[in-house]
Amino acid sequence: MNLNKAYWDKKYTHDKTVWDIGYISPPLRAYIDQLTDKEIKILIPGAGNGYEVDYLYDKGFTNIHVIDISAKPLQNIKTRIPTFPDGQLVQMDFFDLESPRFDLILEQTFFCSLEPSHRKAYAMKMHGLLNEKGKLVGLLFDRTFKNGSPPFGGNEGEYRSLFTPYLSIKVLEPAYNSIKPRKGNELFFIFEK
Ligand SMILES: C[S@@+](CC[C@H](N)C(=O)[O-])C[C@H]1O[C@@H](n2cnc3c(N)ncnc32)[C@H](O)[C@@H]1O
Repeated sequence: MNLNKAYWDKKYTHDKTVWDIGYISPPLRAYIDQLTDKEIKILIPGAGNGYEVDYLYDKGFTNIHVIDISAKPLQNIKTRIPTFPDGQLVQMDFFDLESPRFDLILEQTFFCSLEPSHRKAYAMKMHGLLNEKGKLVGLLFDRTFKNGSPPFGGNEGEYRSLFTPYLSIKVLEPAYNSIKPRKGNELFFIFEK
């Protein structure tokens, strides 16, 4: 299966976005709520409709960089937040992002949308994109899925082995505040460079 731009464009044009919960997820909201420095440089890769962008922006964070391989969800964000800078909504492949470096990268159902064979490249890329002490924070599925298409699942042990060579695992535990359909099937994590 080729999980390229055309694949994701089709999902958006046909409204086949089953992963889209329509609002910021409670675990990301709770994490953002305890951030105090509004100047930090934040990346949201594979953002999709990125409801966490609205939440961050409303709270006064402005150094937010949003990327997705598909343009449609980025246009949706722009429609919702007309004042959001165009240059910070970028249609591109995450793996082509060369610079700059970020203080915080937020993950939600982007990792699981990639071919499992790309996981090592994802971990290495995240290491390269973070400032020293920068953090990759978010959610990872703690379950398997049957089909041979996204989402691709995993478990804690697998994630520990994958990320330990690149990032320090500060938190990797069952999320207590998942949305109902994901309850018990999601790990909240904080990995630090
Ligand atoms: C399952 S969706 C998740 C969207 C969003 N994070 C959410 O939780 O609703 C995966 C997203 O990653 C994007 N994507 C997939 N591969 C990508 C890549 N290589 N670079 C950038 N974005 C990518 C897709 O277009 C899609 O919007």
